[in-house]
Amino acid sequence: MPFTDINEELPPLVLRSHHPDSTRTVTLKVPVVNGGMGVGVTGPALAAAITREGGGGVLTGVALGYPFQKLLNRHLDLKPFEANKAALADWIAETKALCDGQFVGVNLMVALEDFKELAYTAAKSGVDLIVAGAGLPMSLPEVVEKFPDVMIAPIISSAKAARVMLRRWTGRNRPPDAMVFESVHHSGGHQGASIEEIQSGEYQPEEVIGQTRKLLDDAGFTDVPVIAAGGVWDKADILKMFRWGAQGVQMASRFVLTDEAGAEFGGIRQFKQNYLDNRTPTILERSPAGLPGRAVSTPFSKRFAYSNADMVKEPHECPSACLVSCDKKNSIYCILDHLTQALADSKEHGLFFAGSNVGKPGLSKEILPVKELMRRLRFGEPQSDIQAAAGA
Ligand SMILES: Cc1cc2nc3c(=O)[nH]c(=O)nc-3n(C[C@H](O)[C@H](O)[C@H](O)COP(=O)(O)O)c2cc1C
Repeated sequence: MPFTDINEELPPLVLRSHHPDSTRTVTLKVPVVNGGMGVGVTGPALAAAITREGGGGVLTGVALGYPFQKLLNRHLDLKPFEANKAALADWIAETKALCDGQFVGVNLMVALEDFKELAYTAAKSGVDLIVAGAGLPMSLPEVVEKFPDVMIAPIISSAKAARVMLRRWTGRNRPPDAMVFESVHHSGGHQGASIEEIQSGEYQPEEVIGQTRKLLDDAGFTDVPVIAAGGVWDKADILKMFRWGAQGVQMASRFVLTDEAGAEFGGIRQFKQNYLDNRTPTILERSPAGLPGRAVSTPFSKRFAYSNADMVKEPHECPSACLVSCDKKNSIYCILDHLTQALADSKEHGLFFAGSNVGKPGLSKEILPVKELMRRLRFGEPQSDIQAAAGA
């Protein structure tokens, strides 16, 4: 049986454009891409470092204008949506320069008011892959139609969503170039299921990954990889995802614990400290996006936890009108502002999204350079770390 031996070499991840006018193929030597982490956690330093080590670096393209203006004093003269576009174009150019023009991906949320404009900006700026989630990206093939070499992948959390996306995009003569499966039981940030579905244990990865693989194979798309996300921390987890039917993995939380994460905003020290300190399970909290969000348990996130029946709204301004489904000034809190506060190291006001691994005992947790983390993902954790983590 393949993928049971920890010493086994990981196979490369091959991505191919299924646009009728493209023959573009990209081979990533290490089958690991990072999950986009909004707002601003996956910037040029992190994405470029991952690509340089043979993986696929993915920038976040979500609402960058606000943290650029508020924390970096950049694009101050632009209105919010113009600033979002300008910041994204800047970051794509900076990342391309840092990785010698190699692979750069962008993550976008369908729930953004300016999703289509940002997807178009990303394609025009020459990204290699657009990964889109937090809603099903029905319109993405049309938005990037003029850019045949830009590959596109939806994020799905259930076999049903995978089927809907495959049917819709294939009907537009633009099958997906990859399917990113995000486990609602493990991944950080917004989840593609209701709180009831999550609590009832639906959509387990060991089922949905295989079902998605079969769906693609049965439709003749054997060359469309399933990229599994949520709960992947080390090489043993990567091998497990491969056994369940994936051809690649997307990892986010562990990449927060790197020197490069959030480098553009001063290194997001409080984010990393919260991850290192956390000894309790992550919580699911209510987000103004209308989707459950998984985060480190802090006094702020606990105020909005589903377990808190006495939730009280936080009065606030609406700086950017970023999310379609948000009730703007009347929403429960401003998520853009609290995610930006996390970037700015505010322990009290920051919202620190995190995958379930962040609250799990027995995992090797330390801040590493991306180069060393990628080495560990390829070859396994050092023996001393495994013993120390087991005793933690
Ligand atoms: C801090 C943080 C921010 C995230 N932001 C986004 C985002 O903006 N868009 C998105 O599609 N996924 C987002 N995610 C989800 C990740 O991209 C990823 O799929 C997921 O966290 C994988 O699970 P892991 O953290 O256990 O590796 C975020 C995750 C974290 C931890």
